[in-house]
Amino acid sequence: MNKVTVNASKKYDIVIGAGLLRDAGQVIKNFCRGGKVFTVSDDNVFPLYGEALRTSVRKSGLEHFEFVFKAGEASKNLSVYSRIVENMCAAGLTRGDVAVALGGGITGDITGFAAATYRRGIAFVQVPTSLLADVDSSVGGKTAVDLDNGKNQVGAFWQPSAVICDTDTLKTLPEEEYRNGCAEIIKYGMLGDGDLFYKVKNVPVRNDYSGIITRCVEMKRDIVERDEFESGDRMLLNLGHTFGHAVEKLSGFSIAHGKAVAIGMNIITTAAVKLGLAPKGTETVLREALLSYGLPLSTTYGSDEICRAAAGDKKTVGESITLVVPTDVGSCRLIRVPVEDLKNYALAGGLK
Ligand SMILES: NC(=O)c1ccc[n+]([C@@H]2O[C@H](COP(=O)([O-])OP(=O)(O)OC[C@H]3O[C@@H](n4cnc5c(N)ncnc54)[C@H](O)[C@@H]3O)[C@@H](O)[C@H]2O)c1
Ligand SMILES: [Zn+2]
Repeated sequence: MNKVTVNASKKYDIVIGAGLLRDAGQVIKNFCRGGKVFTVSDDNVFPLYGEALRTSVRKSGLEHFEFVFKAGEASKNLSVYSRIVENMCAAGLTRGDVAVALGGGITGDITGFAAATYRRGIAFVQVPTSLLADVDSSVGGKTAVDLDNGKNQVGAFWQPSAVICDTDTLKTLPEEEYRNGCAEIIKYGMLGDGDLFYKVKNVPVRNDYSGIITRCVEMKRDIVERDEFESGDRMLLNLGHTFGHAVEKLSGFSIAHGKAVAIGMNIITTAAVKLGLAPKGTETVLREALLSYGLPLSTTYGSDEICRAAAGDKKTVGESITLVVPTDVGSCRLIRVPVEDLKNYALAGGLK
């Protein structure tokens, strides 16, 4: 088992390894003075792992309640959130009790937001089951739900009390979700760790889940400790996300996040090389890595529509936008550009 400790506004441990779900109850118990555990999960994940979690929680002498919602981003909304907190109330949850998110990033985000707001905040424990949640969304304390006109528009920074990554759960993860997670892992390598990048380029991520998740989580930990509330360095984690979010949005979210980020990374890296900010060949190795996981490189959307969608993104402050630009494999920098210059990057990145 690997352990990474995060020292943010709250100090907490992330444990990573095979078979950890069995002992989740013992970990949860450390934060549960009230004796009640409220698990939130979706209807794909709960039938697979709900029983194991429930058994572990009960074995630790705690009472277990559960709430299962329909899987998918369409459920990450205020009405499901409101049903969760109503159910927490009906279960008699107090401030000494614990909410548990068992599932992917959607479950983590909505449960975290419910935990952040129920009775002005109760403890919550993340039990991520998707690769994306393992390496990204379960760490760092961003919680949110979507509104009709935008993703993550209502939320809170609310750090978990613990994160339990049982890599055995990844055995049932659909192939598409595996690829989406791998796009984010390639992102970590590209933005800050060339060794990690070449490792996952040469050997499939699934050959070493524990080692790779641990490394990504350490990187996210370092960044979150420096900038918990995203006023600077935390933006580095948005590599590929400015153009990626635009692709995702234009597709009406039919292009999955990981795929959109792959396209976004290719655009910004191609632009960086073309504009002389990164050495020649940087874009080629990135493309090889993305292709080896069956991730896409290009989009048919044009530069104008992409830039309009990207400029509408919440990362826009006033008239400028912060771009994360690779300077090599394993390093990148933040560049603030006027919104109207975005098009130069899009064109240099290969968009029409
Ligand atoms: N809070 C953050 O910092 C942060 C960071 C990145 C992404 N996010 C959010 O995360 C969400 C995406 O996360 P995701 O990709 O994990 O989506 P998800 O939660 O929908 O999980 C993906 C799919 O895989 C299924 N699944 C998950 N684990 C499984 C398993 N072990 N076996 C079988 N099926 C399994 C789910 O039911 C779902 O259908 C988005 O809403 C995004 O905004 C948040
Ligand atoms: Zn992402």
